Amino acid sequence: MPSTALQRTLALIPDAPATPTVTDGYLDLVGPASDAPPTLAQRAMRSSLLPRVYERAWRPVAFTAFTGRTTGHEERRLLDRLALRDGDTVLDVACGPGNTTRRLHDAVGDGLVVGLDYSPTMLARAVRDTTSDAVAYVRADAHRLPFADGSFDAVACYGALYLVERPADVIAQMARVLRPGGRLAILTTCHRGPAPMRGMVGVTAGVSGLRVFGRDEVLRAFGDAGLQGVQREVSAFSQTVVGQRPVRSSATATAAR
Ligand SMILES: C[S@@+](CC[C@H](N)C(=O)[O-])C[C@H]1O[C@@H](n2cnc3c(N)ncnc32)[C@H](O)[C@@H]1O
Repeated sequence: MPSTALQRTLALIPDAPATPTVTDGYLDLVGPASDAPPTLAQRAMRSSLLPRVYERAWRPVAFTAFTGRTTGHEERRLLDRLALRDGDTVLDVACGPGNTTRRLHDAVGDGLVVGLDYSPTMLARAVRDTTSDAVAYVRADAHRLPFADGSFDAVACYGALYLVERPADVIAQMARVLRPGGRLAILTTCHRGPAPMRGMVGVTAGVSGLRVFGRDEVLRAFGDAGLQGVQREVSAFSQTVVGQRPVRSSATATAAR
């Protein structure tokens, strides 16, 4: 019998299977993976080692080097940016072992937080480390979010957009599942610094499979996805971008005139 949080999550999925597959406590919408991880970075994400050391060791060190900020600072800023309220329904895309998902849960009380990821090992760890029954985990591909349009009050995607094959499509999917007025916040890479440094960062990133975004690429994708009030903050080699789904779509606004 799926947990209460999983049952609430299933209600947001129009094509939910009649008999859902729950593996290690998460809802599996992918099944046995036949695809080999395409890059070194993606292989690491699906290993059994990284999920074990990610939250305590890997993330604080790697992300502080990449963002120039502590994890605590970055998490507080995320909660401010999303303006979460008690009772909100929130999606954490590419949640890894659930570290950010659990912080989001702290801000929504009895609301619902759904962590989505493609890696079975990350999700198994996320379930193990999460005690709240207002949090559910789903295995799916961020390029094809399974949720109905307008399902979430807020969506976060931290530390993952640089791994996906088609980032603009993932941004469009995240905008689609936001309710009108809902906010999307993304933390990802940003190309900057002197030219030789940029070259070095680019080569290292290319070999590992991490994309380094040009200064305006993510902003453009937010605009193309119809998000408004877009703001960006750059820090070290990272950028945080926040935008809001319009309260009225342009089609509705035109029809109303
Ligand atoms: C570095 S972790 C980020 C974890 C967490 N969001 C954080 O803030 O620390 C990146 C995650 O992105 C996931 N990921 C990569 N490509 C994905 C995709 N196409 N769909 C869903 N998850 C994906 C990986 O499996 C991995 O768990």
